[in-house]
Amino acid sequence: MKRTEFYEVAVKSGFYGIETSGLSGKKDNVRKYWEDTFIRVAVRSAIQDLVASREGLRIIDLGSGSGEGYDLLTHIPPSHPVKSSDPFVVREDQIRVYEGVDISPGMVAQGRANYQGKPNVRFMEADLSKGFPRQDEPPYDVYFSSYCSLSHLSQVGLERLSTQLLAHAGKGSIIVYDVYGRCSPEWPGYWNRTAAHPLPYTMAYLLPLEQQDPVKIDWFPVTFWSGEELERTIRRAAVATGKTISVLVRKDRSVLVGRHMDTALFKPQRLQLRTQVNRLFDRGYRGDVEGMRPDVAYLDKERQEHPDAWARIFSYYRQWIAVVDVLEALMQDANDVVKQVIESSEGGLSEELKMLAWLYRNADRFPVSDFWASVMGPQVACVLRNLEYNLPDGIGCGHSLLCVVRVDE
Ligand SMILES: C[S@@+](CC[C@H](N)C(=O)[O-])C[C@H]1O[C@@H](n2cnc3c(N)ncnc32)[C@H](O)[C@@H]1O
Repeated sequence: MKRTEFYEVAVKSGFYGIETSGLSGKKDNVRKYWEDTFIRVAVRSAIQDLVASREGLRIIDLGSGSGEGYDLLTHIPPSHPVKSSDPFVVREDQIRVYEGVDISPGMVAQGRANYQGKPNVRFMEADLSKGFPRQDEPPYDVYFSSYCSLSHLSQVGLERLSTQLLAHAGKGSIIVYDVYGRCSPEWPGYWNRTAAHPLPYTMAYLLPLEQQDPVKIDWFPVTFWSGEELERTIRRAAVATGKTISVLVRKDRSVLVGRHMDTALFKPQRLQLRTQVNRLFDRGYRGDVEGMRPDVAYLDKERQEHPDAWARIFSYYRQWIAVVDVLEALMQDANDVVKQVIESSEGGLSEELKMLAWLYRNADRFPVSDFWASVMGPQVACVLRNLEYNLPDGIGCGHSLLCVVRVDE
């Protein structure tokens, strides 16, 4: 081999391209540091209880793609990071079985390739709209699903699957649902619909802007849910099986950072919110707040017919704006504004704002080479994420609606 031949192969394989993966694409920063974290924290308490009470976990991932759920579940941070002796809530050796189920042969093949050499990880091809394909197996401890795979089923299909899952599950098992929220600010045209009829969806946000032509892109039908519809559907399934359940978590995720906030495929305006939050987590972040105060007045016409969704989104929006106001005021040394915004905000928000002000004013105490990118930007993003996490029970006003159910009897 000639001396430079290795580099020829490496450059042709794309290893020397400009690295911008955190700013866009499937696994952008919002997915990694906002959405994945949100899911992990939402399931943490239930998973902790299972780990404490069982000898290893049996997990099935419904619509697993290439096994993203395995990574999600094996990287749940402990609630007390410095007091905990384990780095994560579930160690890999505590997973007796992780079984990914997906309709796509390509996903299943990729999953097998990703996890080859891990004997406890398996994948199977199956269509969940035809029912639960593992009836003959012993109960799983965790019936997991993430990133809206279950929205590929109709309302009737999800109720039927839920009935089968609940019948199959043992006492203490949990089921994690993740579906599209119907009253997301991404798709105001869907707020008036119901889960009874699937509606068109697209993943064209992954395409470059110039290719996001609504006529040429692929659309496929998915079910968009309100919180009440999802919970009622699950509870009906529980009644049908005679099982008693507790809904442990019902949360709206990605209320203002959903993928389609930044496209004009469901609404006329292309906002810049996800892009800007991706930047907060990026090494290039320098404190600007451009694009962080989106004009969401287009939702005003939904106010009368959907007062709950509108009020929830706007109460979060006001918190978001307070964070941006404080950040901007800190950068402008406008201490009176910082004080005024903090004093006019309540409870958890004022504590978060005080923490951001403290960080900014104590930047010199952080011996990192890049305070903005390593400390301030990510903290601002985490505050915005934590405010979303602490909203009351999910009503379907985020990109996704997450629900954790435990089988009690
Ligand atoms: C948005 S991806 C989510 C994948 C993965 N769970 C993740 O967290 O990234 C949705 C997945 O659901 C799968 N899917 C769609 N319809 C399905 C069905 N009827 N049965 C099983 N899987 C299905 C797709 O093939 C795709 O892998």
